[in-house]
Amino acid sequence: MDNTLILSCSHRKNSVSKQVADVCQERIKIFSADTQATTFDFGENPLPMWNEEVWNESPQWQQDLAPLREAAEACDSLIVIVPEYAGMVAPMAKNVMLFLTTELIGHKPAVLVGISAGIGGSYPIAEMRMSGYKNNRILWLPDHTIIRSAGDFKAPFESARQKESLEHLDHSIKMLSEYAKVLPAVRSSQAFINQPFPFGM
Ligand SMILES: Cc1cc2nc3c(=O)[nH]c(=O)nc-3n(C[C@H](O)[C@H](O)[C@H](O)COP(=O)(O)O)c2cc1C
Repeated sequence: MDNTLILSCSHRKNSVSKQVADVCQERIKIFSADTQATTFDFGENPLPMWNEEVWNESPQWQQDLAPLREAAEACDSLIVIVPEYAGMVAPMAKNVMLFLTTELIGHKPAVLVGISAGIGGSYPIAEMRMSGYKNNRILWLPDHTIIRSAGDFKAPFESARQKESLEHLDHSIKMLSEYAKVLPAVRSSQAFINQPFPFGM
């Protein structure tokens, strides 16, 4: 059974990102029956901002990070849901990327899902594609999904915009499942295990 980790990177409780994460869970059941999905909702359970004690593996950080590390290590693929705040990706998304290492998620396929209450949502995608992947080597798929008017994105998905967003999300989930089948070969290769450039090239 495949395992998908969904990271809902909103700072808010009862967030739209979590609502979209729930839709992802439902669509995975439909289109990828062999996949088990787990959601981390950082609005409900926020991770503190990174500080240098992470490098020292302080007991507090070990405790705070244990669930995320365990889930990241176990997953075959990720869905990273990134809301737009003031024309930026929500800071939690970048914070989370600092905790995820190559050992945990390197060369695992991941779909980006941008969230906007209005007609935005592209800036968080651009930011995540530009940065945040270098040291952990998460593998963003070429296609991403942007959910606009995201507050309305719920069943029965009646408007043209909702239908189109759902089609994009469904396609992303199907592609993610295909990538997840083949990429373990990369992680088990000697080239990956030797890792000569831990901080990128
Ligand atoms: C601090 C803040 C800033 C926001 N700035 C933008 C923005 O620049 N562009 C946009 O499209 N939506 C913006 N929004 C609206 C969010 O995209 C919308 O509230 C969305 O539901 C947030 O997702 P969340 O509920 O998962 O946190 C902002 C929301 C917050 C809380």
